[in-house]
This record gives sequence, structure tokens and C-alpha cells, in this order.
Amino acid sequence: MSAQPKTKGRITPQDIRALKGAAPVVCLTAYTTPVAKLADAECDLVLVGDSLGMVLHGLPSTLGVTLEMMILHGQAVARGLTRACMVVDMPFGSYEEGPRQAFRNAARIMAETGAQAVKLEGGLHMAETAAFLVARGIPVMGHVGLTPQAVNALGGYKLQGRGADADRVLRDAEALAEAGAFAVVLEKIPTELGARISKILPVPTIGIGAGAACDGQVLVIDDLFGLFEDFRPKFVKRYAEFGRDGRAAVAAYAAEVRARSFPAPEHGFSDKAP
Ligand code: KIV
Repeated sequence: MSAQPKTKGRITPQDIRALKGAAPVVCLTAYTTPVAKLADAECDLVLVGDSLGMVLHGLPSTLGVTLEMMILHGQAVARGLTRACMVVDMPFGSYEEGPRQAFRNAARIMAETGAQAVKLEGGLHMAETAAFLVARGIPVMGHVGLTPQAVNALGGYKLQGRGADADRVLRDAEALAEAGAFAVVLEKIPTELGARISKILPVPTIGIGAGAACDGQVLVIDDLFGLFEDFRPKFVKRYAEFGRDGRAAVAAYAAEVRARSFPAPEHGFSDKAP
């Protein structure tokens, strides 16, 4: 029996919202058309995350990601999706000045990629902006706890919401839900806090390093694929070892080329007519 939203066509932000208390929300990031096609078969929601700056473009953080990069990758992902709800991250610097700047840039993302929603980072201080977008027809997914765009202010990619700080993260999540967010990502917070927020919030929580009690889970697809051999976040279960297998494939190819044992004849052409 499928636990996916009962919808024939495209899964909408409203369908995701309706999964609260009904079924877990399956979510992955994607940045390219072929990977979007893979994710589309199983995911309720596909996020074009600004993590693409680090995993695809080799940037040291997500701070260098531009609106143009998000739109370009959003367009690529859109070509691979037929059913999953597509959400595009608003990059650093594209929404923090205030609701009007956020609307202008979110509207570009929606119009130029065909996304069904945007995601923005930040809690209480972003609630007004989230409400502004929602009131003007742009569904918003929130993101609280560890917000990577604030890495410099947070002093690193540290666990958030420990001890007395838990109430702050809860307030952040509540403020976004009250502002009309259809779901809220909880990143890198204690398991108990993830469970507490998920119990209280009226919209689905999507966890990443926030424990199994969240209403859904999201992973960076390159982590799920095991693409990076030298970087392994503690909470990430790898479902494949593409990094290791890719390295072995490249080595096998290089060895065959060097030994002049590259397979024939499929890889060459004869000038004799067939
Ligand atoms: O950018 C991203 O991939 C994200 C997820 C990790 C939630 O924001």
C-alpha cells in the first residue's frame, strides 16, 4: 500500500501539509535533471537546496550561491519531475533585507523555474517575510535549528537547541507555522527537541539530523549516494558508495587505456562498410 499523497497529478504544498499525522514526508535534494528523475519516483518533495554550492560547485559554504545558480539548477530539476512537489532554496542575500526584496526574488524563482514553493532559512525574524510571501501566492517552507547561511553568526555548523536554547528553536518553528509555512525543516537539533517540536507544530517537520520522530526526513542526495569519501556527517546513512565505486571505475578505465586493452569493437569504427 502506498503512503504517498493521494493525488493523480503534481503533489502540491497543500498535499505535503496534509501529510501531517497521516504519513511520513519523503524528501531529497536534487540539482540536475537525471537525479531529479530518480528522486521523482519515490519522493513527495524534491528540494533544490543551496547545498548545491558546496556539493556541486565546490564552494566552502552556501554563502556564495547566487539567485542565478538557483534558477539554473531549478530549471534543470523541473525537467526531471512529473509528480514530486518542487521547492527551491532562496540563496543568501536574496531575502534578508525584507519582505519586498524576498517577494521580488521568490517571484523570479517561481516564474523562471516552475517551482511550487521556496524555502528560506531563519525563525522568528523571518516570520513577517514568510507571511508576506504566503499572502501573495508563494508557498513557503521554513528552515530552523542549524541554518547554514548563518554559519558565521553561529560560529560553525554546530548542534542547535541544546538545553535552554531549545525553547528558542521551538519558538522559531512556531513563528513560521503561524506565518503560514506549509512545512518546516529542522536541522541538527537534539532528537528529543525534534520530537517535541513535531508534536506541537501543526505542519509537518522535515528533519535532517533532528531524529526519527520528525514528520518527514530530507537528505542531501550526494550524501545518500555516498559520493564524498572524506566527508561523512554523523546523522547520514549512506545508501550507496558512489564515491568509492566511481573511483574504482575511473581507475579501471585508466588502466585499460594505458594497457591498450580498451574493449573493441564497440568503442571504435571500421572504415570497411558494414
Ligand atoms: O540546502 C539544502 O540542501 C538544505 C537541506 C539540507 C535541508 O537546505
